Amino acid sequence: MIDTHCHLNDSQFDNDLDRVINNFFLSGGSAMICVGADFQSSMKAKIIAESNDNIYYTVGVHPDDCDKFDQSELEDLIITKSDKLVAIGEIGLDYFHNKSNKAKQIEVFVSQINLAIKYNLPIVVHCRDAYQDVYNILKEYSPLKIGVVMHCYSGSLEFASQLIKLGVKLSFTGSVTFNNAIKVKEVAKNIPLDTFFFETDAPYLTPEPNRGKRNEPKNVFDTAKFVANLRAIDAQKLIEITDENAKKFFNIKAF
Ligand code: NI
Repeated sequence: MIDTHCHLNDSQFDNDLDRVINNFFLSGGSAMICVGADFQSSMKAKIIAESNDNIYYTVGVHPDDCDKFDQSELEDLIITKSDKLVAIGEIGLDYFHNKSNKAKQIEVFVSQINLAIKYNLPIVVHCRDAYQDVYNILKEYSPLKIGVVMHCYSGSLEFASQLIKLGVKLSFTGSVTFNNAIKVKEVAKNIPLDTFFFETDAPYLTPEPNRGKRNEPKNVFDTAKFVANLRAIDAQKLIEITDENAKKFFNIKAF
């Protein structure tokens, strides 16, 4: 199974990264995508991907860090990519943390969408309390020339349907297993099978039954099993389908 979004580059993994990676593969995991959130973490993601089989990476600047965005710095990192670069991300809008003003966040988001189009890479979108603005921006690019995934989807079913109409994919973290996550359960239960896949967002958002502990990629299985149960479908079958969705989306050929 693929963990399509984890932060192996987070300092919480500095002391036992090899063990965490091994745990994932020993649990039956097949590939991981290590996601950048600013220039430093994107560099680190690249190094981790280049030193391990079946680990891929993304580069991008998260809305919380968009005051540090430097277009040419990021573009250099894309130009000097290895063949394991699979997306630009995570990028987007965060009006919950609101670390910089909306206009700046939108400017940096749009710049990175344009870079993704220029280099023909999909984007991994972080969106918090900003669904309408993200939707409006994506709609301007419609029909979409690149893949777009809403990472850690937590909006309504109605919004999910609108996004899916644009061709956007959704990915679910362990947050779908939380007791109070009623809306996102409804989404995970009802959207078409070819429109989503799974991620951990480790070290954050640990699924039940380990909520509260540090998350790691091997826990992606818990989220998939939970959603399989919601949809009354065999977990192995669901994992096969969502892995195919992810491989197609990120253009991962083999592992
Ligand atoms: Ni993330």
